Amino acid sequence: MMTEILNCSPKGAARAGELLRAGGVVAIPTETVYGLAADALNPAAVKRIFEAKGRPGDNPLIVHITEIEQWGPLVSSLPAEALRLAERFWPGPLTIILPKSRLVPYETSGGLETVAVRCPSHPAARAVIEAAGAPLAAPSANVSGRPSPTTFAHTYGDLKGRVDAVMDGGDCPVGVESTVITLCGDVPRLLRPGGVTEEELRAALGELEIDPAVLGELRPGERAASPGMKYKHYAPRAQIEVIDGSPEEYIEYVNSLPETGGIYALCFDETREHVKIPAAAYGPRFDRQAQARELFGALHRLDELGAERALAQMPGRAGVGLAVYNRLMRAAGFRVRSLPGPVIVGLVGPSGAGKSTVAAGLVKRGFGLIDCDALTRRPDVYDSGCIESLARAFGGDIAPGGVLDRRELGRRAFRDKESAKLLGRLTFPAITRAVRREAAGMRGPVLLDAPTLFEAGLDGMCRRILAVTAPEDVRLGRVMARDGLSEAAARARFRAQQQESFYVQRADISLDNSGVFLTKAGLDRLYSELKGEG
Ligand code: TXA
Ligand code: MG
Repeated sequence: MMTEILNCSPKGAARAGELLRAGGVVAIPTETVYGLAADALNPAAVKRIFEAKGRPGDNPLIVHITEIEQWGPLVSSLPAEALRLAERFWPGPLTIILPKSRLVPYETSGGLETVAVRCPSHPAARAVIEAAGAPLAAPSANVSGRPSPTTFAHTYGDLKGRVDAVMDGGDCPVGVESTVITLCGDVPRLLRPGGVTEEELRAALGELEIDPAVLGELRPGERAASPGMKYKHYAPRAQIEVIDGSPEEYIEYVNSLPETGGIYALCFDETREHVKIPAAAYGPRFDRQAQARELFGALHRLDELGAERALAQMPGRAGVGLAVYNRLMRAAGFRVRSLPGPVIVGLVGPSGAGKSTVAAGLVKRGFGLIDCDALTRRPDVYDSGCIESLARAFGGDIAPGGVLDRRELGRRAFRDKESAKLLGRLTFPAITRAVRREAAGMRGPVLLDAPTLFEAGLDGMCRRILAVTAPEDVRLGRVMARDGLSEAAARARFRAQQQESFYVQRADISLDNSGVFLTKAGLDRLYSELKGEG
């Protein structure tokens, strides 16, 4: 079959519309991934999607519309919470499942009595739906089982000769498929994580269940709520293993492997320069949007490089990270290797958030604790070389007779941001060495409470990051009471620190600690999640 290449232009959209009205199949860009579209209400056209993709016929398709008004005819009823979700997140990467109307053929719904609908935001996708004058069924535009395409080249590479046309819309801005939620049960249930996050859905809905297939593998005999979840997915040709370890542990492990060739690293951008084996990077460690955008491209790159095996750095699961984690785990067939060292969890958050309360609860459950503030007060942390350089920077009288006057050092170092930075530069190496010494002597899981965890680079030692948060007025009250500060002084301290969002953005788990007590059950759950049993 001849496959036309169409531009993202009114002319291209018109041609796509023409082909679709005639029962054709056309690959189009959307904000999530490229989709392979056909008229959702035309069974013969929909069948051609399944043929082109080699997709099992019981795997239902998502129906794409441009206006909420087009939804009503496709479903048997529209509950209020469905409309609330649509108003909040459409157009955008959210798919909502409801009981279908008779209008939707079983070819589209994969034989189910329900239909998944989404309203994409990508202008080209919207133009094509309008030109076709019909709702469009569109699964991801890959051959079944392969990574979803996020670029024109990958789409064309997979589908050339199998479809009527492919529209070139450049790279997809979200990079992972839409979030899929079903409203067919008693409680809304997340079936597939995506660009709209679990946290956002909870905020909009209140109640939300997470389908077991989101985080784990279905056990034999278990029925998939979303048929797509039962198939191996997103797999490049390379066999992937996900490595659970800190960045430092990951680097050490990967560099200790014999150089037999064929093994690749699938790692964060920052890690790349430290590994000796060839690597494909999938975004910065703490930029989960970028990871979502880049993951499928990185999986394709492994193929292009001819990788036979790849060792993937495990992504964090917060926010869009859950979608990245879900896709990578599926690509790996759920193979995970947990590195042998103790799990170190970085504990961060602004003053007054209640880190110590959380720490105490975790210590009671078996965590060891490294308290960096206490560590830096020990007389032996700074060696003589370090003290000399401090004296050169801040004045000889901060170390009369070679003995550090910490109070005087503090006064000079914290008078402005530049001095504080300089203090950090001079002391972080010594602090890091002290933390390493401590950690080396510890067995089970360890909490690392370090106010300057990221600035000192100690996050490289941490497998996970736990942020403790609380509303600013709660924190203000706590800091004033605890340290006897005036409101002005407490506010000044907050201004000198990182914003709460700085920590939350980097955290695998963020815990709101505004109440006085954390529940026992909550701490138990946190404990096993941090250890990696969650
Ligand atoms: O972002 C996206 O959603 C992309 C773009 C093209 O819109 N489309 C996409 O479609 O990812 P697809 O077919 O690759 O994935 C749809 C997923 C499958 O896992 C499918 O089983 C599930 O949604 N699904 C569709 N209809 C369903 C239904 N009625 N009940 C349960 N799961 C359904
Ligand atoms: Mg797909």
